[in-house]
Amino acid sequence: MSRKIIIDTDPGQDDAVAILLALASPELDVLALTAVAGNVPLPLTQKNARTIVELANRDTPVYAGCDAPLARKLVTAEHVHGRSGLDGIPLSDPTHPLQPEHAVDYLIDTLRAHPSGSITLCPLGPLTNIATAFQRAPDIVPKVAEIVLMGGGYFEGGNITPAAEFNIYVDPDAADIVFKSGVPLVVMPLDVTHKALTSRAWVEGMRSLGTPVGQAVASWTDFFERFDTAKYGSEGAPLHDPCVIAYLLEPALFHGRHINVEIETSSPLTLGMTVADWWRVTGREPNAMFMGSVDREGFYRLLTERLGRL
Ligand code: RIB
Ligand code: CA
Repeated sequence: MSRKIIIDTDPGQDDAVAILLALASPELDVLALTAVAGNVPLPLTQKNARTIVELANRDTPVYAGCDAPLARKLVTAEHVHGRSGLDGIPLSDPTHPLQPEHAVDYLIDTLRAHPSGSITLCPLGPLTNIATAFQRAPDIVPKVAEIVLMGGGYFEGGNITPAAEFNIYVDPDAADIVFKSGVPLVVMPLDVTHKALTSRAWVEGMRSLGTPVGQAVASWTDFFERFDTAKYGSEGAPLHDPCVIAYLLEPALFHGRHINVEIETSSPLTLGMTVADWWRVTGREPNAMFMGSVDREGFYRLLTERLGRL
């Protein structure tokens, strides 16, 4: 029996690889993609989500959600992902349609219509859609099986400010709602995604698949790798969002701790920081499985095998 998931996303080249991994994996039943403003504005993230579904030759429905954070101005990341959000390879406009329903209504209706504990939410961008759905329909919160998200950082600090990771920083108020919701959380922070670095050999292996997916993944990685290698001096770039999907497929690739994680929502200096009680000094109730390490070889073996199926 495949696991029902909804991927909430702001594509973004790494979102794209995560979505392709999910669509290539029969263990997962991707009910829909819900787009949110993040890396680039909503008109582009919803268009990119449709492009990715089309590239995978699937008919997964795509819904557009919130175009701005709950209470703050949208911050985007064209400097990392390019103006389109999927820079690296020219792709024709998608013909795959956008669903007419708002993503938040879709989330509420779908969670209400399914048995409790049957749907896992996989946010790969700012948490605005999820938090809005929880605020508008509190009855759906206990129905969510689990939230497996990419966001935050502790030992790694931040990537958009010294203290905050981008997804959490863009909408810290939404993150606060999600982290306090009581839904079982698995968090893939920079602490783990910065260990999931691409390699030249892997990128060339993607290119040598000789498929549109292999070509796209190689070109996207070449594009967004330039930012991280220039900034961190590392060989390779962190494939952040695919860690979420890889965890669903092979959880043993990851290790972390069940700890308390709270979100800074007011300090101008540390806004969006995930205050992770890794050493359990606060006595605060644990609310998240906060990952700290990944089997890099195993992660890329899984990615190569699955993406090779598309
Ligand atoms: O900080 C990395 C996260 O921000 C990733 O999800 C990337 O796609 C961007 O959304
Ligand atoms: Ca993302």
